[in-house]
Amino acid sequence: MDKILEVKDLHISFHTFAGEVQAIRGVNFDLFKGETLAIVGESGSGKSVTTKAIMRLLPEANSDIKQGEILFEGKDLAKESNKNMQKIRGKDISMIFQDPMTSLNPTMKIGKQIMEPIIKHQKLSKSAAKERAIDILKLVGIPKPEDRFNQYPHQFSGGMRQRVVIAIALACNPKVLIADEPTTALDVTIQAQILELMKELQKKINTSIIFITHDLGVVANVADRVAVMYGGKIVETGTVDEVFYNPQHPYTWGLISSMPSLDTEEEELYAIPGTPPDLLHPPKGDAFAPRNEYAMQIDLEEQPPMFKVSDTHYAATWLLHPDAPKVEPPLAVKRRQRQFPDGKGGN
Ligand SMILES: Nc1ncnc2c1ncn2[C@@H]1O[C@H](COP(=O)(O)OP(=O)(O)OP(=O)(O)O)[C@@H](O)[C@H]1O
Ligand SMILES: [Mg+2]
Repeated sequence: MDKILEVKDLHISFHTFAGEVQAIRGVNFDLFKGETLAIVGESGSGKSVTTKAIMRLLPEANSDIKQGEILFEGKDLAKESNKNMQKIRGKDISMIFQDPMTSLNPTMKIGKQIMEPIIKHQKLSKSAAKERAIDILKLVGIPKPEDRFNQYPHQFSGGMRQRVVIAIALACNPKVLIADEPTTALDVTIQAQILELMKELQKKINTSIIFITHDLGVVANVADRVAVMYGGKIVETGTVDEVFYNPQHPYTWGLISSMPSLDTEEEELYAIPGTPPDLLHPPKGDAFAPRNEYAMQIDLEEQPPMFKVSDTHYAATWLLHPDAPKVEPPLAVKRRQRQFPDGKGGN
């Protein structure tokens, strides 16, 4: 499969009063044409910073892409000029954020907000842009798009607003769509509808999608591949089936164990003990070691490389070293796996 995006050895720091926060510490991943890649991980693991770097939306004042490449169609976006980035953003690569209200302009009719990027990037006439805007409102499932076109964001419900945000992001047929927790601010039924919409759109428009979420349950439903982030690094990556059915990193085990269980015997929700690393003073070894009950001496001393599990499955844990003791994932992981009998998250 062809790659649309390659992130190579990306390092990003923030300069703060307390010192240098090493938020991204050597991230590598590829995005293939037409696939959905989910990035999962706890708060602060670096999901948003990684994707904002792709869009070059990090604050200029205190952020620094220290090392690495973000290759999009042969161009390194890490080094692209602001002027060129303005041409790429919203046209070739677009992004949906968590809160639909902050992504929309409350004083502008939504039709105009969808037409703006179309006129800017595709140089269509006003009437052609309007036609395209109405088509795209239909595509994202907004009833009576001709009437809705002339309404303001406050006249829409939360779920409908997020559909409008998705319409704006898709207005110019982007090659890459980044969705950063697009459903977290919505209530559960609406979340499900928006996820369903994203899945449908994926089939219809063949855009490559990076989908950021805390929720592994969502991953099984929307993604082809998963990258698990921890402490500014990707610690495991593979197809959805590989990461769910054959997880290798103890952090991935923790994430799977903390999914809500359908098992009535288990009442308490598991939470991974401890706290994420302090990226002002990143640890010498594996950042997960202090929270890892299977940690060995080497975990405290040296960062593990990405060990190959299959052509598509890699994990950065010393447990995969040939000399490491063989450890079975905890029982809670096996119980959660039974919740997905058909190998695709039970849908
Ligand atoms: N503007 C900033 N200044 C300083 N540090 C920052 C800034 N933005 C992000 N960081 C730090 O970078 C790290 C990664 O943050 P990021 O927002 O990518 O996390 P995340 O995985 O998206 O978390 P969440 O799930 O909460 O959205 C965190 O330690 C955060 O404190
Ligand atoms: Mg985030």
